[in-house]
Parts: sequence; structure tokens; C-alpha cells
Amino acid sequence: MRDVAVIGVGMNKWGELWNDSHRTIWTDAALKAIEDAGVDRVDSMYVGCMSGGLFVGQEHLGAMLADQLGMGPIPGTRVESACASGGLAFRLAYMEVASGMSDIVLASGVEKMTDVDGAAATYALSTAADQEYECFHGITFPGLYAMMARVHMSRYGTTQKQLAEVAAKNHANGSLNPNAQFPMKVTAEQVMNSPAVADPLRLLDCSPITDGAAAAILVPLDKVKEFTKNTPVRIAASAHATDTMALHDRGDIAAIESTARAAEKAYAQAGIGPKDLSFCEVHDCFTISEIMAIEALGLVEKGQGGAAAESGLTALSGKMPVNPSGGLKSKGHPVGATGVAQVYEIVNQLRGNSDKRQIKDAHWALAQNMGGTGASSLVHIFERLS
Ligand code: COA
Repeated sequence: MRDVAVIGVGMNKWGELWNDSHRTIWTDAALKAIEDAGVDRVDSMYVGCMSGGLFVGQEHLGAMLADQLGMGPIPGTRVESACASGGLAFRLAYMEVASGMSDIVLASGVEKMTDVDGAAATYALSTAADQEYECFHGITFPGLYAMMARVHMSRYGTTQKQLAEVAAKNHANGSLNPNAQFPMKVTAEQVMNSPAVADPLRLLDCSPITDGAAAAILVPLDKVKEFTKNTPVRIAASAHATDTMALHDRGDIAAIESTARAAEKAYAQAGIGPKDLSFCEVHDCFTISEIMAIEALGLVEKGQGGAAAESGLTALSGKMPVNPSGGLKSKGHPVGATGVAQVYEIVNQLRGNSDKRQIKDAHWALAQNMGGTGASSLVHIFERLS
């Protein structure tokens, strides 16, 4: 296996992008990554997209987007793993470069979710849960995470205020991110007083419905100097794990076991532990998800995730910043693009390009991206070189 580096990243401002189409949003991000990397060709590309069919009526994205980029006949592969589609696309690009099969690979993700109404978006998202045993009985994603939150609250004493502090922190970070969909600052009180979606989750505990794309260029580490003078960012680990699809089959619904398993493999591959990390980007599709993610990653003890945001530990200026980008909560969550946008934030932070939200002396960083209620998880670890 070869060492692999990310040498280019691109994304656009996310939100409700009425004037752009699915393909133009994706192409904009892909071209930005190619320009940032300074490459004049791509050997192969992967596109993470959860549901082009249900959101915009378009499947067969590998070929369509390779053509759109003017790069046909390169191999173009569409990757689906629900909200972890982007993270999995990134992992497959990593594997293709690491294996020696290709030298310049584009990893990308896209979703255009706002062209359908709220009910259709909720239905499309629900296809990532177990249709027969969960969705047919009327459950939605906010409902599933609400049940997980309830168990966490009753077992560990996690409070509504602690959930709200996660949202307040991520909106504070997102207010410094020009690409964020909802860059407004909110207080914990505003979060707690926002309309109930699925008790205990309020509107401001939820990630939004978003249009957006992100892209990255991966090359072998020993060829980086052929392409760019940018600070190289090494992919120190890539790990993937799955768990049961339906919540009722889990041993513990107050934990994300697939993330814990992927993290264990990733720390072993990178040769570091959670204490070595400078910051993390995690999958806060709901405030409770960030709490459970940081516990699964070993950043805090089990049951201590709620206290982490409240105490300031995970703030931008805290000992372990989590979601400096604003996370899914404030930056937005175009499901197929989220995992690649985490890489966008990490690469810019490790290069020292993150302006007002820059984390000082960042060296090691971790991205955690998950699908469904944690039926799949991707964990990547990155190292700044030089
Ligand atoms: N965070 C902050 N503000 C939000 C928001 C969010 N998540 N979602 C919507 N808003 C704002 C809108 O901009 C709008 O503001 P305005 O009245 O000033 O224009 C207002 O809240 C109402 O927006 P609307 O689109 O009508 O909300 P909705 O009730 O249709 O949808 C949710 C809100 C939370 C139900 C929806 O965003 C959702 O389903 N989120 C979860 C997505 C999900 O499950 N993803 C997969 C995770 S695994």
C-alpha cells in the first residue's frame, strides 16, 4: 500500500441553491478542487450521493458527472451509503490511490435536497432506515434519534440544555464559516425554545435540508511535489464499519458502535490515540449524534458527551475542538456531500487556511461520518506534513 495525500479541496456555499442544478453544484466543487490541486487531469473519480433519484430524478451519476467534467472516458463511480456516502467515496478514492491502480483520483459528494417539499425530503431520507421494521410504522430520522437521545438522557443524566449547547457551539463556529447555510449564532435558550420536532429534539437540534457539494484530489504521497506546492496532508488512516440497520436490533441504542469499531481500527492504523488529535469533524446530524460520536471516538468517557459542549471542552478555543466548520448543524447537511466537506475543513485547517476559526498548531485531525442511525461509519485520520 502506498501513502496517500490530499492536495486539493473544493466546496461551495451551501444552502437552498435555487439557481443551480445538481450537476452544476457538483461541477463547481470538483473544478475548485482540481484548481486547488494544480492538476491537469483526473485518472478516476468517485461521487458520493445518497439519493439522486428521489431528490432530483437523476441516477447514473458516475458517467454523467465524468461527462459533465469533460473527463470522459475516465472511470466514474457513484457511491451510496446514506449520509456516509461522501465518506465512503473518499475511502474508495484513497484505496484506489493506495493500491497503485491510479495516481490522481477525485473524491466528491453532492446532494440537491431542496427541489422537493419537506414531506418528500423526509421520505427520501427515511430510505436510509429499515423500511419494513422502522419506516412502515411511521418513524422518521428525527424520531429515531429522539429515541436514542431519550435513552442517553435517562441512563447518563444528559440534559436538554446539554443538547442545546452542542447546537449553540456549532452555530458559533458556523458564524465564522462563509460556506455555512445557517451562519447565525444561537443561544442554548433559543435552541430549547425552538419548535419541537421529535421530543426531546427541537428544530435547532436538527441539521437542515441542504443543497451542496464538496470535492478532494488524492495522489500518492511520494508524487505530491510533482503537482503542488500546497502543504501536503497525509491520510494516516481510513476505516469503515457497519452495525445493525434497525435500532431494535442494537445491543445499546445510546451508543454508536460502528463508529467505535471504525475508530479503533483507524487509531491503530495511524499509530495515535484520541489525545493526540488537534480537532475533529463529526457527524452532528442531530445534537445527540455529536454527543454519541465523541463518546464512540474515545474523546470523552461514555456518558460524558453532554457535558463536553457545556463545559467548553469541544469549543473552538477548548482543549478538543469539535466541528470547527459549524458541523452539519450550521454548515448544512447535503447528505452525499457531508463526508467530503469534513475533509475540506480538515485540509484547510491543517494548511493553516481557516481564517477566524483557525485552530492553532493543528497537526492531527479526525473525520467521522455516519449513515442512518449509525448502521455505517467512516473514520479518517489526517496528518499535516511539514
Ligand atoms: N437549523 C436551523 N434553522 C432551520 C433548520 C435547521 N435545521 N431547518 C429549518 N430552519 C429554518 C428555516 O430557514 C425556516 O426559517 P424562516 O422561517 O426564517 O424562513 C424555518 O426554520 C422553518 O423551515 P422549514 O424548512 O419550514 O422547516 P421544516 O419544519 O420543514 O424542517 C426539519 C425542519 C428540522 C424537520 C428539517 O430540517 C429536517 O428534517 N431536518 C433533519 C434532516 C435529516 O434527517 N437528515 C438526515 C439525518 S440522519
